[in-house]
Amino acid sequence: MMRIAISADHGGYLLKQPLASYLESLGHEVIDLGGVNDPKDDYPDFAEALGLAIRNGEAERGVLICGSGVGANIAVNKIPGVRASICHDSYSAHQGVEHDAMNVLVLGGRVIGIELAQELVRVFIGANFSGEDRHQRRIDKVTAIEHRFLPEG
Ligand code: RB5
Repeated sequence: MMRIAISADHGGYLLKQPLASYLESLGHEVIDLGGVNDPKDDYPDFAEALGLAIRNGEAERGVLICGSGVGANIAVNKIPGVRASICHDSYSAHQGVEHDAMNVLVLGGRVIGIELAQELVRVFIGANFSGEDRHQRRIDKVTAIEHRFLPEG
């Protein structure tokens, strides 16, 4: 069982509720951080809320959806500690966790349908970081880049 945050702008809204229900049917706890299908909403607001839930430890993984996945993916990676990627193929959705400790899966609600989206979240949630030295070394280098650009303090 995992605590999984989910959020979407209006471009990703149609995938959000079925994916939340699917994750719950697999036995996970889902934290829904919005939205409500408002055409005037902005993806950075949902990306920030979801990224903070990961950063603060309120959720172990996140699923974030916008129209293409691109804007939300860019925005959520601005939160330190978030390692997010768009994955529209199942290999990347699990390998991103196993090798890169990806903690947020980003989807494009105007790109893929619900069946593929369910498969992607299932393999993403089911995957674990390998713990291998070479993978950890690379993640440490990624984190070091992040720290070099964080304000001091
Ligand atoms: C919203 O219309 C759309 O621009 C947004 O969901 C996303 O696709 C941005 O990358």
